Amino acid sequence: MADETNGVKQRAAESAVSQITSGMIVGLGSGSTAELVLIELARRVRAGLHISAVPTSERTAARCRELEIPLAELNGALDLAIDGADEVERDRLNLIKGRGGALLREKIVAQACKRYLIVVDQTKLVDRLGAGRVPVEVVPFGWQSTARQIQELGGIPARRDFVTDNGNYILDCSFGPIGDPQGLSTDLHNIAGVAEHGLFLGLTTEVHVGVRDGVEVLKANI
Ligand code: A5P
Repeated sequence: MADETNGVKQRAAESAVSQITSGMIVGLGSGSTAELVLIELARRVRAGLHISAVPTSERTAARCRELEIPLAELNGALDLAIDGADEVERDRLNLIKGRGGALLREKIVAQACKRYLIVVDQTKLVDRLGAGRVPVEVVPFGWQSTARQIQELGGIPARRDFVTDNGNYILDCSFGPIGDPQGLSTDLHNIAGVAEHGLFLGLTTEVHVGVRDGVEVLKANI
């Protein structure tokens, strides 16, 4: 079963990576699906593709160095970025991300790129976000107070035993089905201790979904 899931994700990763052409500066995500993207991209770089890549985590940066994918700083617009996701809202392509802990840099990259491609298998598609928790990155100072303010928004926060690449904590927050993701995003951003949250709204250009017999590409109506 794990092999089948990996095969499905592998095909979706190949489909997204096929959009990268020589001369591009690309953003590279974090997580197990992004790992498949890195491996496929490295194969193409060995075959002569000329690109440079901005990693969204220290882990992805280390893997790029191992795989000899050239790295670049983020100092302008990116042509394209590819990442995984924890939940993908089927109609609007809004996302929950960050269960791997890299959400702040992931969102900076997502906002900096012209095309944002997501790679998932079908299990990540949902009708409404909030099937699982929303990761919220918070600064360590006063984090319990920040957690209380998230509770006042109706969330149930649980601190993960983890420090992010930015030296922050993650609160995994259950909100239940999220009817108004934009409203929740605004409310979370209004809390000073919140560095960033895992609701990625209106950013996705297309989602490459690995299915049993191929890849389905969902496109945003922009
Ligand atoms: C990393 O922090 C996350 O945003 C990942 O993109 C997300 O958790 C998906 O990870 P997997 O591809 O491992 O499921």
